[in-house]
Amino acid sequence: MQYDKKKIEEVCKECEKKTQISYKYTFFSPRYKSIHDIEIGRSRILKGWLNLLLENLYLLYEEIRNEITAFKKWLFPREDKIYRNQVDGQIVGRITFARKNDETRPIHHLHLEVWARTRLFQWRKLSEGMTDMHGHFSLPYDLRIARRWRYKKKLHFEIYETVHRYDKEGNPKPYYQLFKKLLFPKKDLIGMRYSLGRIMLFYWEYRSDTTVPRVFIKKQGEDAPEYYTKDRLDALYQQTIPYELIKLKHLEQLELAPETISFQQIQEDYPINLTRCIEKKLPGYTRSDEWLGKRMMNGMNRAYFEDVPGESDAFYVKYFGLCRYDHNDEYALPTSRAKFKLQEDGHILPIEIELEGPLSAFEKDPWIKRKFTPASGDEWEYAKRVVRVNGSFSTELDEHFTGTHLNTEQYAIAAFRNLRINPVATLLLPHLKEVSLVNNTADKILLSDFIPHVTALTPEGISQRTRDLLGMQDWKNWKTIRKISDAHTCAIAEDMFWDILYGFVSDFIDQYQDRIKEHWIEIYKFSEDLLENSVPVFLSDVNLDDLDPRMKALEEERFAFYSGQYGFDPNAARVKRNGLLKAVSPITLSPHFDESRAEEEMRNLKSACAYMIMVASYLHTWINENQYNQLGEVLYSCGGLRFGEKERGIMAPESDLSISPDLTHCTQGLFLANILSRTEYGFITTNNEDDVNPELIRRLLDKEKEFKELHVDIHAIESRTNI
Ligand SMILES: [Fe+2]
Repeated sequence: MQYDKKKIEEVCKECEKKTQISYKYTFFSPRYKSIHDIEIGRSRILKGWLNLLLENLYLLYEEIRNEITAFKKWLFPREDKIYRNQVDGQIVGRITFARKNDETRPIHHLHLEVWARTRLFQWRKLSEGMTDMHGHFSLPYDLRIARRWRYKKKLHFEIYETVHRYDKEGNPKPYYQLFKKLLFPKKDLIGMRYSLGRIMLFYWEYRSDTTVPRVFIKKQGEDAPEYYTKDRLDALYQQTIPYELIKLKHLEQLELAPETISFQQIQEDYPINLTRCIEKKLPGYTRSDEWLGKRMMNGMNRAYFEDVPGESDAFYVKYFGLCRYDHNDEYALPTSRAKFKLQEDGHILPIEIELEGPLSAFEKDPWIKRKFTPASGDEWEYAKRVVRVNGSFSTELDEHFTGTHLNTEQYAIAAFRNLRINPVATLLLPHLKEVSLVNNTADKILLSDFIPHVTALTPEGISQRTRDLLGMQDWKNWKTIRKISDAHTCAIAEDMFWDILYGFVSDFIDQYQDRIKEHWIEIYKFSEDLLENSVPVFLSDVNLDDLDPRMKALEEERFAFYSGQYGFDPNAARVKRNGLLKAVSPITLSPHFDESRAEEEMRNLKSACAYMIMVASYLHTWINENQYNQLGEVLYSCGGLRFGEKERGIMAPESDLSISPDLTHCTQGLFLANILSRTEYGFITTNNEDDVNPELIRRLLDKEKEFKELHVDIHAIESRTNI
């Protein structure tokens, strides 16, 4: 099919607008009770007017209860004044982490307060202070005042965590939030020193059962190191419930009356996405060579284009398949190497596709290679679909989940464990929050219940692959994706965002450099936690000579390709810990700011901070918000194609439903593609929680028009990875 260029542009623009995400909410809209009620099977949701009325009454009760608490706070304020005439006693102790193998590690710079309550319920602050670098504290107090008869029998020892926000001018405005409270009898205060002993806090602990750095969460919503705000949860529930109801309807039909449901119906029940919208107006266009080239450049995949030796106008896009990973025999996952040729208008067209590995259930040779070109007829169309599907799989698991979610979590854990009074805490923590909670939910609904059932990888294979890919993520000398032409708007916009972000981070660090240097020890400990828990550089712990020569060549090819794709500098000077070459480079190796290396130390800090924010916000947003466009039409693209029972295997037309996901996985995949694209909360520019620096917002708004010309809406960029 041939369409007029102008018509294509018009339709694409109209469809982009039509499929833009928005949502409405009403009082009687069904809802989840908690985020952990979301399943890819039957989530527990509230529906029916009576249930919803009762739930709304309960929420009203909660609201009244909160109002009463606020009223009590107003009635009995906590005045910021220490009641003390003299210092004749110290309340001492030590605070450490609590997990096994972590319990001797101190928690530094925790804000502490001691309060008494009068018999008339008034609050009196007796002392305050913070833990030192060894976790020790010594809080001075006035013995006579502390033991006053008018105070109740028990005193309050309170441990606070620091929450980082900004005021309207962009000045850091941290405040303290109660983390744990201990009561102790005032009658015990008899001597000069009163010891509370060692207090072990379950606080941002690393898990010991994973191959990548993950935080330990006992139970989300009840016992986790952080929580979503109510507004964030409301936005999530309100947007996801409509798709939950669609999925529920499908699952019930499939169970009770499977003859009443079809593939077509499942697809049509979900909102129209970009490819379906375009297909309605330009049939066949989304399966064309031209569209494949456009989406590789500027769609969800955000592909990296590797040079083809000896051909200046050709590039490879590679999606690696099973490699050495544990896999099932139901789904295909060959390695695909697609060759694209640059056109005069700056766009690219595919000219050759090589597929390596089995394409049907009857083939067992993992090294079998086949090449297809536009002259291959129908097989060319099938091969393009394999590239689309492989591309979606790699973009989701390698780039999205590992490159942004897991990558950000490793920085989040180390940052929340160590950054408190250094201004860098205010710069970073707002962008690193919530990712650990999202990943905790993803463990079940994505990595355990979904991906192993709709792709070739088993849970073990996923674990192996994510560890390897995390071994290609580092801040040191990181580069934005390589631009191949002026039509490569994705690369141009990414570069522009990076420039703005780096400039903002650099100015912030310069502005607060004195206090950053003064509390450099926090940066050092942050860096040390990162290093200690970082995975090794990909392949650095593998003896390649032990591998089959073909596998060795493949792994070396992957390393080279990933280095370009993830902006990983293989030559950066990395360090070894416990015999392993760590993927994350040290930000500093000095506990105190080394003035003799001031320029390098500051440059490292700026690069590392800008990288963390870039990954957590822009890079994550790019893939996340594009998911339903790439994966919202199952026959266009999905996580994996089944071999089926025919000899032709996956080299078959879209009409062969035996190779596409079955109906259950079809509705589950569409449900996920839809809900995961719908964050709609926590954008940089909306600054919902006053924790994005207004200066960053201002600099972005200044470039709003330029971003728009590159098809990027700056108001849709999330400040953190929150879904
Ligand atoms: Fe995400």
